[in-house]
Parts: sequence; C-alpha cells; structure tokens
Amino acid sequence: MVKRIGILLSGRGSNFEALADAVADGRIPNAEIAVVISNREGAPGIEKARARGIEALVIPSKGKERETYDREVVAALRERGVDLVCLAGFMRLLSPYFVNEYRTRILNIHPSLLPAFPGLEAQRQALEYGVKYSGCTVHFVDEHLDAGPIIRQAVVEVRDDDTPETLAARILREEHRIYAEAVRIVLEGRYRIEGRRVFITQEG
Ligand code: GRF
Repeated sequence: MVKRIGILLSGRGSNFEALADAVADGRIPNAEIAVVISNREGAPGIEKARARGIEALVIPSKGKERETYDREVVAALRERGVDLVCLAGFMRLLSPYFVNEYRTRILNIHPSLLPAFPGLEAQRQALEYGVKYSGCTVHFVDEHLDAGPIIRQAVVEVRDDDTPETLAARILREEHRIYAEAVRIVLEGRYRIEGRRVFITQEG
C-alpha cells in the first residue's frame, strides 16, 4: 500500500521539496505526497507544490481559535486519506485535538539539537549562547513546543565567522537529509518508542 504524506508549512518549503525529491527518487519508497497545506496565503511552498503537480491548499489560520483551525486541517487531511503528517516550517503549535487524531503520526523538523533552543530563531539562539555544535532534530509531535520523542539528529559545527544565516544554511542541508531518513523509518514502522526513547530497528 502506498502511504500518503500530508505536509503542513507556512513559508519557503525547502523541507517539503527535500521530502518530495526523496519520494520521487525512491529514498522514501511506497509513498506519495497527497497534499500540502499552508496556513499563510502566499507561502512560497504552495507554489512549489503546485509546480510539482501536488495538490496545495491554503487554509488561513488568522483570527481562528486553535482547535477550530485544527479541525479544518484534520478534516482536509482525512478527506485525502493522509497516513503521516510532516510539519515543514509550520509556524503553529498543534492542539491536543490534532495530536490525538494523528498521535505518533506527526513529525517535525527543528533547526537545533533539541532540547536546546526550542522556538523561533534557533540558529541565532545557538550563536548567541556560544555553543560549538548545533544541528537539527526530527521528532514526533506532541502538544508541547518542539518536544516529543526524537527520531534523528544531525550535528553541525559552529564556526567562528558564522552568522545566523551561514549557520542556518549548513544546518538546512542536514535537515533535508535526516527528514527524509526519519520519514522512511516511520512509514516502514521500523521503530519502537519506550518513554522518550525511540529505538530504530534495522532494515530487512
Ligand atoms: C526549517 O529551518 C525548519 O527546521 C524549521 O523551519 C524552517 C523551515 O524551512 N522548522 P523550509 O520552509 O522548510 O525551507
């Protein structure tokens, strides 16, 4: 059975594109991206999806209660038979309703080594704190911000001459790689969760 992925984004959409490339070239086998949903009108990720022939919807979040909004999004995902939800720069916290509807079937990518530097501008936070290594994290989503059991992380060295932009660019390359790996693992069911720990079982 081909697994159906739903992507939620608010902006640029490079992680969506990385997942779409991985689906297209077989690094995420037996899967398709069923829909891309943005809460923001004019998110570049929406145009990128349409250019690839993938259905893309804007469901505006402005002025809506969190759960009211999430019910609309979950209904759209359900209508399309989505099995796995990937947050890809989706700038909203999910309600308990959403998390319960898709528990352990929602992933997020964050540009730091969680639990360090959750929230906005993680790369700037890392530089300002003075860490020597940062990176990125793919994790299951729960009702808390940038929390939930960790599936994959990648480490990126901080250079003396880094700016938030140069560090973000090097982290982004790793995001694209580990997000595709994590999606494959989850779709293939090659993991088990014990408490906060996610154990990956080997292929084949
Ligand atoms: C990425 O840095 C991701 O880790 C964070 O938001 C950014 C989204 O970038 N959650 P893009 O829209 O995928 O290019």
